[in-house]
Amino acid sequence: MAGSANLNVMMKTARKAGRALLKDFGEVENLQVSTKGPGDFVSRADRQAEETIRDELMRARPSYGFLGEEGREIAGEDPTRRWIVDPLDGTTNFLHGLPHWAVSIALEHKGQIVAGVIYDPVKDEMFYAEKGGGAWLNESRLRVSGRHKMIESIFATGLPFAGRADLPDTIRDLARILPACAGVRRFGAAALDLAYVAAGRYEGFWERGLHAWDMAAGLLIVREAGGIVEPLNPDGDIMVDRQVICANEPIFETFAKVIRAS
Ligand code: IPD
Repeated sequence: MAGSANLNVMMKTARKAGRALLKDFGEVENLQVSTKGPGDFVSRADRQAEETIRDELMRARPSYGFLGEEGREIAGEDPTRRWIVDPLDGTTNFLHGLPHWAVSIALEHKGQIVAGVIYDPVKDEMFYAEKGGGAWLNESRLRVSGRHKMIESIFATGLPFAGRADLPDTIRDLARILPACAGVRRFGAAALDLAYVAAGRYEGFWERGLHAWDMAAGLLIVREAGGIVEPLNPDGDIMVDRQVICANEPIFETFAKVIRAS
């Protein structure tokens, strides 16, 4: 798809950061056997990737604001536009040498996400969308899955770790959904979970405790692939409550009823 100038900047930037992260990922395995471990190295790689992304985006569009996972927010001269960036979504996977992580870049205009890019350098998969232009994976148009039976459907979520307060809710969700579906996956990178719903690899995804940078690009990509995206609490707001539920159209209602029953 021939994208806008902004989309081209986002894809070029994601590839550049992705190439550097891929090189660092190759080092992680060696570091795992060292006494210091790979923790500091990965934090550095994560911060460096954000710097690369920020420099590229700010150079191309100096008036836009910037919100990244690793740094403080930068207000732009143009208050209506800002980049929302997760330089490395799936940090824990990266740290453990698991090849499932991505760079996520979104562009927000007047409070709405208008373009999103999620790049998985290991698989060289570039998921992207612009508002009204459909969703894409590399050169192919994306469409959410056509499955309509819960029992044949696969869902993804995030499991709360390190003492997060939403553990009981998630356990209740799992107790209800597991008997009713073909499986639940926890792959550890929310941006890719959303991209996979858009690609029809899962029928749906839900998670609590996410941040804007984990979700921003993915929400647009799912919507542009024909999926339904809502706040987990129907009266809430995805970004404010930091909770989301999404699925293909035939499954959404049943799936949401099961998850929202807690
Ligand atoms: C994390 C991943 C994970 C999700 C966590 C996020 P990070 O992002 O997306 O799948 O369950 O809530 O914080 O820290 O790797 O960028």
